[in-house]
Amino acid sequence: MSSPSPRRILGLCGSLRAGSLNRHALRLAGEQLAQLPEAHSLELLDWREVPPFDADVLAAGLPEPVRRAREAVAAADGVLIATPEYNFSLPGMLKNLIDWLSRGEDQPFAGKPVAMLSAATGPLGGARVQYDLRKVLLFVNASVLVKPEVFIGQAQTKFDADGRCTDAATVQFVRTQMQAFVAWIEATRRQRGG
Ligand SMILES: Cc1cc2nc3c(=O)[nH]c(=O)nc-3n(C[C@H](O)[C@H](O)[C@H](O)COP(=O)(O)O)c2cc1C
Repeated sequence: MSSPSPRRILGLCGSLRAGSLNRHALRLAGEQLAQLPEAHSLELLDWREVPPFDADVLAAGLPEPVRRAREAVAAADGVLIATPEYNFSLPGMLKNLIDWLSRGEDQPFAGKPVAMLSAATGPLGGARVQYDLRKVLLFVNASVLVKPEVFIGQAQTKFDADGRCTDAATVQFVRTQMQAFVAWIEATRRQRGG
């Protein structure tokens, strides 16, 4: 098998808050991707300005923040979602973003390699949100990595004040998942003849 090229991965954080543990997890994933032999890049999507979904607004034309998010997803070789679990499921804002992006025949998640991880302050690390997120991504025909799954439980104890991961096991889990994700991106490309 030929070695893969550097890929551009879009990071999507399901939490908007500045000190988000899930954003810390994305940073860790970005560090691991950069350290792989092909030095893949991870760029975070800023989707804070995406409005509440409203079909009347959509009918009048895509809002600019939605258009930007749509183009970023379309241009990426893969999308990595790190999200908290809110009340056993997806944060409403993240679902809202996916709802916006799901519209139209050329919606950008179709066939897109996607991986997910979750960080939570509870012990399960957001185990329940991932299965709801998988269900939503199924509908938009995303090509979702199955394993390895990464759940970062009690995440507030695993990152320091600068957001750096201090837990060796978490670093290794994320590294292994990023290796699998890059292989998944390559496999998906081959399958699509790209
Ligand atoms: C509205 C809300 C609902 C939450 N529900 C859950 C939950 O169902 N399961 C869980 O493990 N943590 C839950 N939490 C706690 C989150 O795991 C914790 O706030 C986490 O730090 C959020 O991720 P972030 O740091 O990336 O913002 C909830 C937090 C909020 C604000």
